[in-house]
Amino acid sequence: MSHVIAVVNQKGGVGKTATVANVAWELVASGHSCLAVDLDPQGSLTISLGLNPDELAGRTIYEGMVLPPDHPQHRRLQPLPVELTGLALIPANLDLAAAELDLNTQYQREFALRRALAPLRETFEFIVIDCPPTLGILAINALAASDAVLIPVGTNYLSLRGLQLLLRSIRLIQQQINPSLQILGILGTLYDRRLAHHGDVMQELRRLFPPQGIPVFDSVIARSVRFEEAAMTGKPVVAYAPQNPGAEGYRQLTEEVLTYYGRQ
Ligand SMILES: Nc1ncnc2c1ncn2[C@@H]1O[C@H](COP(=O)(O)OP(=O)(O)OP(=O)(O)O)[C@@H](O)[C@H]1O
Ligand SMILES: [Mg+2]
Repeated sequence: MSHVIAVVNQKGGVGKTATVANVAWELVASGHSCLAVDLDPQGSLTISLGLNPDELAGRTIYEGMVLPPDHPQHRRLQPLPVELTGLALIPANLDLAAAELDLNTQYQREFALRRALAPLRETFEFIVIDCPPTLGILAINALAASDAVLIPVGTNYLSLRGLQLLLRSIRLIQQQINPSLQILGILGTLYDRRLAHHGDVMQELRRLFPPQGIPVFDSVIARSVRFEEAAMTGKPVVAYAPQNPGAEGYRQLTEEVLTYYGRQ
């Protein structure tokens, strides 16, 4: 059975997609099978792994998760291979923007993703889900389908503020929908060591959360222009610029995740 990890934060631009792309890539590079799932209508994960969302009509998460099995366009989720890697991807495109409406009328709509992924949990050691920057029905589906949640947080004060809301939502999901959901950890991202307040935010995260039983990863992801360049080439930073400190951060993070699951 796979370990299913949702990468969630309702705040935009904190490195969710970069985290999924780099960790998924690195899991495969270190010999583990991994399925990356794009659950964002923006299709950023799909693009950053080198596929074109506009060419994938009929083969996305939408047909397998949102359309009910008796719908003529429903298709069982079919992971696509990411070229030259062992990584598999379930892509997304703008069709997924209709999910909110489409799921509204469905029975147990918060479990649509869990149902759709069930047959794939035998195939992959890890399934890593990239969520959109909202706490709507898509993120709820991701949290209902996952064993663990990884929370990237930009290391600036404003990013900290939204965290309490997110943690409250996760607690509600644990109480009402998915009691076995664990918090894998909070990950500091976009970190610039030249800025004193970034260090302060990391200290604050480490002071506040571990005593509440919410781990903060030792790994911190440095800010680097290489991330934008990498996304344009369709490869994550760990593959595009392996020497970059951001790539090193994601390698360390992947090791922490593997250690958590006792699989090193
Ligand atoms: N460590 C980093 N250093 C510099 N730029 C980064 C870093 N991580 C991600 N980026 C860039 O910042 C932007 C936002 O990152 P990303 O798309 O991963 O965030 P996100 O949380 O998924 O955003 P959204 O909420 O829109 O889905 C992207 O252009 C990405 O290339
Ligand atoms: Mg994203």
